[in-house]
Amino acid sequence: TYVIAQPCIDVVDRACVDECPVDCIYEGERALYIHPDECVDCGACEPVCPVEAIYYEDDLPTEFMPYLQDNADFFFETLSGREDPLDSPGGAAKFGAIGADTPLVASHPPQV
Ligand code: F3S
Ligand code: F3S
Repeated sequence: TYVIAQPCIDVVDRACVDECPVDCIYEGERALYIHPDECVDCGACEPVCPVEAIYYEDDLPTEFMPYLQDNADFFFETLSGREDPLDSPGGAAKFGAIGADTPLVASHPPQV
C-alpha cells in the first residue's frame, strides 16, 4: 500500500484524492489516510502531493514509518466504534471529511 505521512498534517492539499482511481484516500480532520486494503498501488497519488507526504510502504523514510500502521489504524481503530465503520468502505467520496484523526495525527503540533 501507499501511505500518507506527517507532511500532510494541516496541509490537506487534496490533489491526491483526484488522482486515485479507486477512491481509497479518506479525509480525516487534519490529514488524509489511505485505506491499505483498497489501495491498488498504482502510485498516481505520490507525485502530485506538493509536500511529498505520500510514499510506497517500502520507501517510507525512517521518521515516517509509524504512518504505515497509522493509516491502517485510522480505519480499524479510530473509526471502529462508529455507526458507519470504515473497515472496507469502498470509496471515500460518499464520506467527505470524517472529522476524526488517529492519536498520532491529533497529537502532532500545528504545522501551518
Ligand atoms: Fe495531503 Fe498531499 Fe494529499 S498534502 S491531502 S497527501 S496531496
Ligand atoms: Fe490510490 Fe495512490 Fe493507492 S492513487 S490506489 S492511493 S497508490
